[in-house]
Amino acid sequence: MKKVGNHNSISRILLLSLAVMLTFSFTSNAQTAAPAATPAAPAAATAAPAAGAGDPVKGKELFNTNCAACHKLDAKSTGPALRGVKEKHEMAWIYKWVHNSSEVIKSGDATAVKLFAENNKSVMTAFPQLSEGDIDNIIAYTSTPKAEPAVGAAPPGTVTAASEGSEISNNVVLGALAVVMLLLVVMLFMVNSVLTKVAKANGIEVAPKEKRTPIWKAFAQNQFLVLVTSIFLLLASGYFVYGYLMQIGVDQNYEPIQPIHYSHRIHAGSNGINCKYCHSAARVSKNAGIPSLNVCMNCHKNISEVSDTTATPDHSKAFYDGEIAKLYTAVGWDKATQKYTGKTQPVKWVRIHNLPDFVYFNHSQHVSVAGVECQTCHGPVQEFEVMKQFFPLTMGWCIDCHRKTDVKMEGNEYYAKIHAELSKKYGVDKLTAAQMGGLECGKCHY
Ligand code: HEC
Ligand code: HEC
Ligand code: HEC
Ligand code: HEC
Ligand code: HEC
Ligand code: HEC
Repeated sequence: MKKVGNHNSISRILLLSLAVMLTFSFTSNAQTAAPAATPAAPAAATAAPAAGAGDPVKGKELFNTNCAACHKLDAKSTGPALRGVKEKHEMAWIYKWVHNSSEVIKSGDATAVKLFAENNKSVMTAFPQLSEGDIDNIIAYTSTPKAEPAVGAAPPGTVTAASEGSEISNNVVLGALAVVMLLLVVMLFMVNSVLTKVAKANGIEVAPKEKRTPIWKAFAQNQFLVLVTSIFLLLASGYFVYGYLMQIGVDQNYEPIQPIHYSHRIHAGSNGINCKYCHSAARVSKNAGIPSLNVCMNCHKNISEVSDTTATPDHSKAFYDGEIAKLYTAVGWDKATQKYTGKTQPVKWVRIHNLPDFVYFNHSQHVSVAGVECQTCHGPVQEFEVMKQFFPLTMGWCIDCHRKTDVKMEGNEYYAKIHAELSKKYGVDKLTAAQMGGLECGKCHY
């Protein structure tokens, strides 16, 4: 009987298709890797002005915590706009002025007296605690050129465009792969039918398929297979039920909509406001607490709108300004008269993190005693546009860290004696929170 090379050609086609798929998957990897490099460019651009005397990044942080209550960069507030003050005064004068402006005015300095008169004789706070280096940093920040809105808005835009681009190219690659697979299947069928035709034409008998018992009947008759399959199904469903039960009460990634769109990215990130400025209770008490609206008004009496560069493709400047207006309505602040109207409405923040009542967790123990950073437990909060729960907060999560983290003993009188005893007991130099008793049920459970 003449042999038809049927099998051979099919396996060749299979090999070919594998090769095509591999090539495509490599290119798709290359596509995703490429845009990752682009976001570095805007970062380098912002870092460029650092060549001056001070560090504008540190300066921005200092400015926002100390000066923003009375000064804006580009508009008059309680005090004059500060962009470009370096050109107006000598640095020596600025040091004296910031350290104690009243003294400079009292000394009869002509510029100072004039400035004071021009600003309705408002008194500027004295900042003796700021070093000349700090002031250099602030002045470096006020000397950064004003970013054009269009240019400023561009970097976030390009970044999203790039990531969208990679998403699109991924989809294109997937689509192309699907098309290639489809073509291959069609080709296989065609090759098969052509071969049968050729065989028929050459008078070769293609053996007809013999009738077999259907596969499900064969399966039902084989008791061993049925047993193995049922055990497998039972185990698999048990696994999924267990998984379902374990995630009850775990709210990882819970991200509710808050009554005011308050962005940690803008406050803690871009403006570098310290977490403990608002969540001040975290240092000293069990709860970190949510700041009262008075804390917001320390800054927002003067900040009634965001700068043009803060707007993103997702949220416009008008949107952000509207959110600050909500804050004003809540505290009853009249922007025009700069006075409280006395009509207030509470803001009902939605609580996000919430352990069950039978668990005891204390912030000060972790933040002040152990020196754990907020971000270790709450994730990169300074990047969150909307706050969410980053970690699962399960018992396993707490225990895992207690096993891994060393207790900070240095400079803590409380631990001097206990450390000596425990390190002898365990024969180690360093102690983990677990060895200190961080695994005892009673420490975490009431
Ligand atoms: C309590 C409000 C207040 C705070 C806070 C404040 N300033 Fe002032 N600042 C003023 C006022 C008001 C003037 C205008 C002069 C006057 O009336 O005393 C002024 C003037 C100035 C001037 C001179 C501006 C010019 O146009 O010549 C500089 C420089 C300055 N402040 C720097 C700072 C720096 C730096 C900080 C933060 C470390 C700061 N100020 C914090 C209220 C404030
Ligand atoms: C200017 C004030 C301010 C600063 C600074 C600030 N926060 Fe907040 N934080 C808030 C407000 C207001 C809320 C409630 C609204 C919300 O959930 O977005 C909040 C909510 C939170 C929550 C969720 C609370 C809950 O309901 O479970 C966490 C966690 C948190 N902040 C951590 C941080 C960390 C970490 C930092 C520093 C990187 C920080 N915050 C800086 C004001 C602030
Ligand atoms: C230390 C100063 C400071 C404090 C305190 C502060 N803010 Fe702000 N906030 C700012 C600055 C600065 C901006 C504008 C940022 C910009 O233009 O880039 C801003 C912008 C905003 C915006 C518009 C952008 C956004 O996040 O949606 C809202 C709303 C807002 N703040 C609400 C609050 C609330 C609510 C509180 C109190 C929990 C608060 N702020 C406390 C400095 C502060
Ligand atoms: C060791 C982990 C850990 C660290 C470090 C930590 N937190 Fe928390 N945080 C938690 C847990 C767990 C909860 C939930 C507490 C609860 O429900 O009783 C929480 C809750 C919160 C809340 C909600 C309100 C409250 O008090 O329950 C805020 C706000 C908060 N944390 C802010 C902060 C800030 C700001 C820091 C840094 C100064 C910080 N956290 C550091 C684990 C941590
Ligand atoms: C990022 C690491 C980390 C995480 C996550 C963490 N802890 Fe801790 N915890 C520590 C460290 C470090 C100490 C030791 C502090 C000290 O020096 O006393 C500690 C101490 C404690 C103590 C005191 C133990 C003692 O011996 O007195 C309790 C209670 C506690 N943690 C509860 C919790 C609970 C509940 C959670 C989860 C919701 C949690 N911790 C999550 C790091 C962590
Ligand atoms: C480091 C703190 C910590 C220690 C130590 C600890 N637990 Fe927990 N435990 C938790 C937290 C947090 C939860 C809540 C988990 C959740 O909400 O999913 C929890 C939940 C539980 C639950 C409820 C079931 C569940 O998973 O939600 C039981 C039961 C429990 N713990 C028993 C124990 C026993 C028994 C011990 C001692 C061997 C112990 N725990 C030690 C922190 C701790």
